[in-house]
Amino acid sequence: MTDRVAGKVCIVTGGAMGLGEADSRRLAQEGGTVIVADIADDEGQKVASEIGGEYYHLDVTNEEAWVNLIAHVKEKYGKLNVLVNNAGIVIPGTVETCSEEDWRAVNAVSTDATFYGMKHAIPLMRESGEGCSIINMSSIAGIAGIPYVFSYAAAKGAVRLMSKAAAVHCAQNGDKIRVNSIHPGGIVTPMTQKVGAQVAAAMEEDPRNSQPVAGTTPGEPDDIAWMVVYLASDESKYTNGAELVIDNTVTITEGIVP
Ligand SMILES: NC(=O)c1ccc[n+]([C@@H]2O[C@H](COP(=O)([O-])OP(=O)(O)OC[C@H]3O[C@@H](n4cnc5c(N)ncnc54)[C@H](O)[C@@H]3O)[C@@H](O)[C@H]2O)c1
Repeated sequence: MTDRVAGKVCIVTGGAMGLGEADSRRLAQEGGTVIVADIADDEGQKVASEIGGEYYHLDVTNEEAWVNLIAHVKEKYGKLNVLVNNAGIVIPGTVETCSEEDWRAVNAVSTDATFYGMKHAIPLMRESGEGCSIINMSSIAGIAGIPYVFSYAAAKGAVRLMSKAAAVHCAQNGDKIRVNSIHPGGIVTPMTQKVGAQVAAAMEEDPRNSQPVAGTTPGEPDDIAWMVVYLASDESKYTNGAELVIDNTVTITEGIVP
């Protein structure tokens, strides 16, 4: 432990498992006070108790629930320094096969929730006058046009540019609030274990793909969590409105690096 985020109050959405769990563990290890916010109550409570943090049941798609969470954080901790908008879901489907229901579900958890989270966190962050950081989890799907996860690509593209618009807004206000997006690719988590195989199968079965699908060595959640610690800490005080791609070259090599 090196106390890189000592004294900082941090919310991690989707903190019960996968990338959010790793973020929560590393932020706590580095001295942060962590609120694990999720709908997976058992897993979230376990993580929170192991890291000495708090579990808070939050459905990120519900704006009123966000209002209540921010009020709770203000009342209990007096301030908020870090928000990791990490919760996300992916439902495979192309522009032609994606249903309206799937479109709305995926965008609710990423697009709507990232908007609600930033909207309600920023005023409390501003009040403290301390260095604050919003970290939005986008994806390489928010940069490259991956056809098999159409609604997810749309949502993650929205997260990418909402981050920049909010970063400029805060900078214009003179707030000490930075906003950045992270774009992971191929990290082993419950999400990729479940959906990754479905997407890979869709690619393999697509007769328009003449090339075999390249296998890329997957990353691990800590590969993302250390970036979250950096962005949460004051070490990154000049990093604002940036998009941090963590994919071992996948987006620039079409996955040809094993
Ligand atoms: N794993 C990867 O390779 C990868 C790549 C790119 C982007 N991402 C993004 O990183 C984030 C985390 O992904 P992961 O792989 O850890 O996923 P995961 O499915 O393993 O974990 C997601 C977490 O979000 C929670 N969640 C889902 N819906 C929620 C809701 N409505 N309210 C609150 N919590 C909710 C889940 O309960 C779970 O704890 C997501 O935004 C995902 O899109 C992951």
